[in-house]
Formats: sequence, C-alpha cells, structure tokens
Amino acid sequence: MRTPLIAGNWKMNGSAALVEEFGQRFAEKTLPASLDVVVLPPFPYLDAARRAFDGTPIRLGAQTLNPLHSGARTGEVSGRMLKEFGVEYALAGHSERRQLYREDDEAVLDRLLAALNVGITPILCVGETLEERDAGKTMEVVLRQVGYVMARLEPDQRERVVIAYEPVWAIGTGRTATPEQAQEVMAGIREYQAGYDRALAAGLRLLYGGSMNADNAAELLAQPDIDGGLVGGASLKVDDFLAICQSAG
Ligand code: G3P
Repeated sequence: MRTPLIAGNWKMNGSAALVEEFGQRFAEKTLPASLDVVVLPPFPYLDAARRAFDGTPIRLGAQTLNPLHSGARTGEVSGRMLKEFGVEYALAGHSERRQLYREDDEAVLDRLLAALNVGITPILCVGETLEERDAGKTMEVVLRQVGYVMARLEPDQRERVVIAYEPVWAIGTGRTATPEQAQEVMAGIREYQAGYDRALAAGLRLLYGGSMNADNAAELLAQPDIDGGLVGGASLKVDDFLAICQSAG
C-alpha cells in the first residue's frame, strides 16, 4: 500500500551532461509500475532537468530551501522559486546540512514547513553519528529528530512527510547499515509514529540512505519497514541508479 520511492541526491555533483544522460536513459527504460523516482540535482541544473526529465518517470527534488519566500538572504533559494521550476520534493535536515551549516532541529522544522506551505513534499532526514551509535543512543537521537518536527505539525501535514533514515557513519563511507540494523531503527520510527496515529504510521514512507548501491539495494528494500532509498554516490551513475530503481519494484 506504500508506493516505493527512490531518490537520488546528487549533492554538489553532476553536470548538464549528466542531466541529459539521465533524461535519455530513463526515457528508454520501463520501470516498475508502482514506483516514485526523484532526482535532486544542484539548483543550477533544475531548469534543464525539468526539460530533460519530461516524458520520464523522474520527478524533481531540491536538496534544501530557505524558509522565506523572498528577501535579503544572499545565496539562498526559496520554496516558491523551486515550485516555479517544477520541484515536487525537498530534503530537510540532511546530516551534511546539520553538521556543515549548523542547521538544528528548529531550522530543519522551518525548512520542512516552508516546503509544505508551497506544496512540496518534504523528505525529513534523520540519523545518528558513529559516536552516538556506539554510546547506545541511536533511537534516542533519531526519535528526537523525528519527534521535534512531527510533534509540531498538524495531522494533515504529518501525512505529507517522507522520512529518510541515514546513519551518518554510513554516508559516503561505503559502510552500509546491515538490513537488520536499518530495519530495527526504521521499525522504531514507525512505531513511534503509531503512538500518534496508527493509520498515519502505516502509510508513512520511510527511506534508507547511506551507501545504498546496485548490489545492496534489493536486500535493504526487502525489509518490511524500508519503503525506498535516498541514494547519494550511486545516484550519479545512471546504470547503478536504474538498477536500484528496478530492485524497488
Ligand atoms: O542523501 C544521500 C546520502 O547522504 C547517502 O549518500 O553516497 O552514502 O549514498 P551515499
């Protein structure tokens, strides 16, 4: 009943040529009928991506957004602007934003609300560091990040949120969480949500992120509480990303 979702976060990578390549290759392939595919390129490629992905199943996503609609925020991009370029999804709280740009839970909430307010589906990213895992604090950290945001949303807003569990130690390291480790945390997130609303929890889409690739995707996606993936490095290679999408069917 939950439609799988595979999202490719290009981070500060990619090129106009890669956008074209994705457009062409995805237009040629038949993907599983019930699957949402999202690519999140850097801002300058959004317009070209919108055109290149037209006629393919790929939807557009943004890696961040500013909470304001417009104003004196040099270097920032608003949800309203993204919407004009056909963006349907946006990340909020990616660990790189939390760590490198000091976005705390409140800043994450502001961005997530900004997405909801313009009709963009937010993907709330949560995850523990290695130190936190080693200290036995994984669930405490993850549920704090989830709870801070979800507790402040109206029920109809909660229904529109996608949550990505990305253990920080698995991002870009080649060290994937085992399917059991990922499943355990993601089942915990769903159970936590069920405390608010069982139906909402049952419909909540949960993505795993952290060194997901063409070889390990099927096993991760076979877990009962993993509804998709947020893919970094492997989303920059069209064959790998296509293979991950195929394994989500
Ligand atoms: O947002 C995706 C991400 O952080 C995972 O990156 O390169 O480990 O797949 P990667």
